[in-house]
Amino acid sequence: MSKPKNTFTPLIVANWKMQLNTAASVANIKKFRKELRNFRGRVQPVICPSFTALADASKALKGSKTKLGAQNLFWDEKGAYTGEVSPGQLQEQGVEYVIIGHSERRQLLGETDVMVARKMIAAVTHDLMPILCVGENAEERARGVHENVVRRQLESALRSLPPPSQSKRVYIAYEPIWAIGTGEPADPAQAEDIRAVIERTLVDLYSEATVAQGFRILYGGSVTLDNILDYVRPNGYDGVLAGNASLEPAVLAAMIRAVNTLFTTSS
Ligand code: PGA
Repeated sequence: MSKPKNTFTPLIVANWKMQLNTAASVANIKKFRKELRNFRGRVQPVICPSFTALADASKALKGSKTKLGAQNLFWDEKGAYTGEVSPGQLQEQGVEYVIIGHSERRQLLGETDVMVARKMIAAVTHDLMPILCVGENAEERARGVHENVVRRQLESALRSLPPPSQSKRVYIAYEPIWAIGTGEPADPAQAEDIRAVIERTLVDLYSEATVAQGFRILYGGSVTLDNILDYVRPNGYDGVLAGNASLEPAVLAAMIRAVNTLFTTSS
């Protein structure tokens, strides 16, 4: 499957998890903006701080190219759902992207494929760009069922979704659980195998044209400045979802500049 020309716009997503309070998130954004001063590249940065930091983060990002993302959302817009946050409430804070089905939520908080599917529909119907996380654990990899796991997660999350388009994209993040926060990223060849599985699964669910226009695939799991270009390429992954490495503003900015060199060296 070939992507349409000139649509390689790598997405670098910073997932700050529950690591920073509001003051630290804003301080990080200010440092990051300084580091990235005068950047005019094609790479699209997205920063996903905690819910409580979204409003201040949104202000701190005003006038920058970087977009705001959330780490989760609820599938309904309003109601008696103690502790949950709706798509509209996220948009009110300036959120444009949302991470859905991160393995930490699936494993620690009991998020199921069914819940993930509902959240996907909620995101796209409210014009939030979803970043759907899929990936196997170490035991599933050892048993050799990793491709089936990823395929099942994708089919379940996407089955009822209206076809995405170039302006309303769906991002898939392949995040092998054993690679998250461990300092042991997937071997680039292993990651490439799964990228191909994801692409095939998407083509089975939608038309080739829809997949080429409407989907982009990211890699996540111990991404660093040293290894990011092992994954992101015009004919490889379309970006990354980075946790630990993204917490250091200078490193996050350097990763964005590194990916942007793909444009200056390839054309
Ligand atoms: P990591 O986290 O980069 O620290 O491995 C990635 C993620 O969980 O999204």
